[in-house]
Amino acid sequence: MEYCSCCSSDEESAKRRAMEDELRDPKNFLEFFLPRPLRLAFFGASAASCLIASVLTAVRLLQSPALELAEGTGPRDLVVNLIGLATFAALFVYDQQQARVRVERRREIREAQIAFGDREVFVNDQGEKMSRLKEVNDDWILRRLERWGRRDGMPFVGPAKGAILQRLMAERRPQLVVEVGTMAGYSALLMAQALPPGGRVVTFEKDLLWVLAAKRFMWQASQGEKNRGLDSRVGDRVDVQWGDARESLPRALRPGVDSIELLFLDGTPKEYLEYLKAAEPFLAPGALVVADNAGVFAAGGLRPYLEYVRGSPDRYSSQLLPCKLEWRDDVDDGMEVSVYLGAGGGGGQAAPGTAAGLEVAATAGPSEAATAAAAP
Ligand SMILES: C[S@@+](CC[C@H](N)C(=O)[O-])C[C@H]1O[C@@H](n2cnc3c(N)ncnc32)[C@H](O)[C@@H]1O
Repeated sequence: MEYCSCCSSDEESAKRRAMEDELRDPKNFLEFFLPRPLRLAFFGASAASCLIASVLTAVRLLQSPALELAEGTGPRDLVVNLIGLATFAALFVYDQQQARVRVERRREIREAQIAFGDREVFVNDQGEKMSRLKEVNDDWILRRLERWGRRDGMPFVGPAKGAILQRLMAERRPQLVVEVGTMAGYSALLMAQALPPGGRVVTFEKDLLWVLAAKRFMWQASQGEKNRGLDSRVGDRVDVQWGDARESLPRALRPGVDSIELLFLDGTPKEYLEYLKAAEPFLAPGALVVADNAGVFAAGGLRPYLEYVRGSPDRYSSQLLPCKLEWRDDVDDGMEVSVYLGAGGGGGQAAPGTAAGLEVAATAGPSEAATAAAAP
């Protein structure tokens, strides 16, 4: 089953082709200079010319063996042409085999996508059975990243911590969220879903490959019926910035203009305090600062950070929200949530309730919390 674009509009089929992106063969160096049809023609024509030359040399040798042997050119030409024939024929067959492997791999991927519900099977106008990827959107991307995270133990925050983040978003309703540590953009997308109208997430990632991956996921997240006609599509609300947050965060934000209302720290644990110090001049009084892995790294890399926020009552009102480590029900972790009280202290908007004025219930699922947060 292959995707057929003949029955769609140009725009629709271009979009579909882009969505099928991940099924494309990885481009190698040779592919770039010599695409497969050209390559096959070259290998085939070279093998055929070596074959013809071998036959002609053999005939020459048979007709006047004494002369050819005396000059020595006949046997040498024959050997060279036979080696050429064997080499080009082997390359031709190898290339064909590789193409079959790629076709088989694409078939396996398509079947896995059908099994996961990412791909739908349909019958086209000619009565042929075809398949196509379902329209992607933010929920689709989050599901895929969760599957990936669970399978390979990727350090994405995961749905349980994601629900806490979205709940915090619903309570604080931040216009500007800053994140350190984008990776594939899972947590950024969860927070973007829960933004109030007009809000944005600026997220920093030092690894260029992750930056490119996250940007692609954000683009995909903005597709689909759900995002059609929206002024600000969910992936467009996320600004992925490349660079070490310790230097790029103060450079990317405008003093006196950009005011961080929620700061999510999920980079390298031992650098958290440096991220906070870099972001502090931009924190709005009452801003929430959320530090991931405050349970598992409490006695390790996060210690200076935790000592700072817990030991500065004039600046922060801080509490640990216990939760499990992503993908692991058997490992305790936590998120340190600190309310910034302002440089002079006491400027926060923390409401009564808990130590930090937070009523964080992690019981609601991520999208439930997102709906509450995104309500105008
Ligand atoms: C735990 S992962 C982030 C996961 C992501 N927040 C999520 O939940 O989907 C940590 C990421 O932080 C990035 N990182 C580490 N140190 C950084 C720094 N100083 N500046 C920017 N990014 C950093 C790493 O490259 C890695 O991709």
